[in-house]
Amino acid sequence: MDKLNITIIVGTTRKNRMSIYPAMLVKKIGEEIDEILITFVDVIDFFPLPGEGNDEESKDSRWVDINKKSDAYIIVAPEYNHGYPGSLKMLLDNDLGNYTHKPVCIAGVSSGMFGGARMIENLINPLREMGFVTTHSDLFFPKVQDMFDENGELKAEFNSQIDYIKKSFNELIWMAKCLKWRRDNLDSK
Ligand SMILES: Cc1cc2nc3c(=O)[nH]c(=O)nc-3n(C[C@H](O)[C@H](O)[C@H](O)COP(=O)(O)O)c2cc1C
Repeated sequence: MDKLNITIIVGTTRKNRMSIYPAMLVKKIGEEIDEILITFVDVIDFFPLPGEGNDEESKDSRWVDINKKSDAYIIVAPEYNHGYPGSLKMLLDNDLGNYTHKPVCIAGVSSGMFGGARMIENLINPLREMGFVTTHSDLFFPKVQDMFDENGELKAEFNSQIDYIKKSFNELIWMAKCLKWRRDNLDSK
């Protein structure tokens, strides 16, 4: 079986964002899994987008190409005023043709104690409308400023996060295999 293509998105353009650290940790753990290939997407690389929406002239072909080959996603995003960053939503809105029946795991990041839980709740609805299938194994990075050291490494006392990330990958891979099988074997016939 071909390797699954999993796209990890770090979903904020904020200058001093901490979300990059959990995103890099998720990437590192994903790269150790044999049956998958990781594509790392930083929303910063797509900004400024020419505008809202997904009109042909506004589409970013780099994003469309990534989505065409993606089998699954992990979105790592901070909670901003109980919601998701506008930059993440703008990038997702830029291509609406290539998300259908693809699983997505959401990882919330916050400086407070709730780990972006309210962001996750709010992101599920637009993702569903876009055609994604959300997994139930969300990831939470609360008090992110205490969890990682100044080099962006996970502190030893938070090593349990590694098990949660592996568990989320397992769930995502399970769903990605089922949905990819259907796309490859039935939808294309
Ligand atoms: C505009 C803005 C709104 C925020 N709103 C929330 C919030 O609603 N809940 C929360 O727990 N943290 C909130 N925070 C703090 C973030 O949790 C904090 O910035 C954290 O480091 C994760 O995001 P980062 O990747 O921007 O660093 C907010 C931060 C910004 C910049």
